[in-house]
Amino acid sequence: MKKLLPYMKNYINYAILSPIFMILEVFTDIGVPYLMSKIVDIGIANKDIQYVFKIGVLMVLVSLIGIVFGILSAHCGARAGYGFASEIRYETFKKVESFSFANLDKFSVSSLVTRLTNDCNTLGQVTMMSLRMGVRAPFMMIFALIMSIRINSSLAMIFAVVIPLTAVVITILLSKARPLFLEIQNKVDRVNSIIKENLAGIRVIKSFNRQDHEEKRFKERNTALRDTALEAISIIIFIMPILNLIIYGTIMAVLWYGGQMITVGELGSGELILFITYITQIMVALMMMSMFFMQLLRGIASKDRILEVWNTDSEIIEVDEPIFELSDGSVKFENVNFRYPGSKYNVLNDINLDIKSGEVVGIIGSTGSSKSTLVQLIPRLYDVVDGAVLVGGKNVKEYDIKALRDQVAFVLQKNTLFSGTIRENMQWGREDATDEEIIQILKQAQAWEFVSKYEDGLDHWVEQGGSNFSGGQKQRLTIARALIKNPKIIILDDSTSAVDMTTDAKIQKIFKEELTDVTTIIIGQRISSIKHADKILVMHEGRIESIGNHDTLLKESSVYREIYESQERGVVGQ
Ligand SMILES: Nc1ncnc2c1ncn2[C@@H]1O[C@H](COP(=O)(O)OP(=O)(O)OP(=O)(O)O)[C@@H](O)[C@H]1O
Ligand SMILES: [Mg+2]
Repeated sequence: MKKLLPYMKNYINYAILSPIFMILEVFTDIGVPYLMSKIVDIGIANKDIQYVFKIGVLMVLVSLIGIVFGILSAHCGARAGYGFASEIRYETFKKVESFSFANLDKFSVSSLVTRLTNDCNTLGQVTMMSLRMGVRAPFMMIFALIMSIRINSSLAMIFAVVIPLTAVVITILLSKARPLFLEIQNKVDRVNSIIKENLAGIRVIKSFNRQDHEEKRFKERNTALRDTALEAISIIIFIMPILNLIIYGTIMAVLWYGGQMITVGELGSGELILFITYITQIMVALMMMSMFFMQLLRGIASKDRILEVWNTDSEIIEVDEPIFELSDGSVKFENVNFRYPGSKYNVLNDINLDIKSGEVVGIIGSTGSSKSTLVQLIPRLYDVVDGAVLVGGKNVKEYDIKALRDQVAFVLQKNTLFSGTIRENMQWGREDATDEEIIQILKQAQAWEFVSKYEDGLDHWVEQGGSNFSGGQKQRLTIARALIKNPKIIILDDSTSAVDMTTDAKIQKIFKEELTDVTTIIIGQRISSIKHADKILVMHEGRIESIGNHDTLLKESSVYREIYESQERGVVGQ
């Protein structure tokens, strides 16, 4: 909680005022029945209409003031609670944005979404409740108790029995319900995760005709949630009737003894009515406290889930005086070994590699041979386990991470566009890119040929994830988005796989002939995409099998020859 509390800073006034207004409201709640008892005992007993009228007006006034205090408290409580939640949400969002790839491997996207939405909301609601119910219930109970003792201390003795009895009953029931409530939260999580997974993959599900299967999976989790919720509720529904039973029993006892006291003149009948009102208020306060504790448990669970995100630190640590400028686009791997965090096996072994600035390098190899893993180390998306990766002659760990990633553009294998216009998507690469620059880059990436056909050109709308573009169009736009950064190094991870051969050849030509000062690293499945590279790396099971150009590799590398021959046969066979 110590970590979260500073985020209340901007709302501290509201957080202080809300309980104060709440206490004032409790005063009026206690005062109104007191005034009523005066009407009965003095006004009605003496048939003093004027007194009845005077105190009656006062009663209305006090309850009106009570309403105002109640509204003010609710208002301040809501501002403090939701304000606090929004700050926490923003902070959590920032934290997630700073996550490294390894951190993202640890949390699933749907769990992060639940934490940012549900858990932050719960935290806000519980904060609001703590400021209001958490203050109202104990104060109400204490004030009502004091008043009851003042009215008649011997009659108030009954509370010495009733309050502990009620507390015990509620504690027993809640301790039974508590694990169920925590379970409900986990099950809500599971339902949410299946909803998110399904909505994200709805097209795949439809094309595979998996609706029935998914519906069944959903139904199972949904039913499990319902059953646990019903089980929890079936315990909670006992609280109210038992509480009522205790209240009525107490009222009967009070009427019995109080009635006798009235007959001997020790108690006014108005006082008896007042006493009974306080009994109800005390019991309601107890009930409120129990509900409050239950909410508090939910809040604590949410707090823990949020702090889990906050306490996850990126293992990518920046040096104190980082370098901001790459001197050139050279890349060097020195005895690099790498395994993914949490994995036991190395997926890269003994990688030694020397790429000169401005070279075009192709990487080829079977799937799972660690091509993507290798290039991810260059913009330091992951840190090496052994050895070093040098960019521009300096270890990547010495650079400012933002500066490094600005100058090493990476077109990821699983790439995506964002909702907005084409212009906005391009300016994502560099904010001040002008239309002329964008068009020139789109031409280089062979994307202008289809963008220019849109009537609205650069204003053409891109749907979320780029769903209104074909695979090949999307790939060309993501290449353009990387190019516009004006990088010293560009990495294309299988970025032309969906582009036709002719267009692919045009893109390769641009990299080779126009962008001569940009180091280009191209991962490709097709020999034709990398054939013209200055240097080709053949990857095999996490190692570099051989390095050379197309002609030498054909002679020297059996793996390369095998890939080449299988693709040639493929072409001939068509
Ligand atoms: N985020 C990850 N966490 C754990 N293991 C991973 C992760 N990403 C990849 N791997 C593992 O690392 C190995 C190399 O994967 P990588 O993605 O580098 O292969 P690739 O050569 O790019 O394959 P493809 O041609 O299919 O893209 C695989 O065995 C894969 O299971
Ligand atoms: Mg890959």
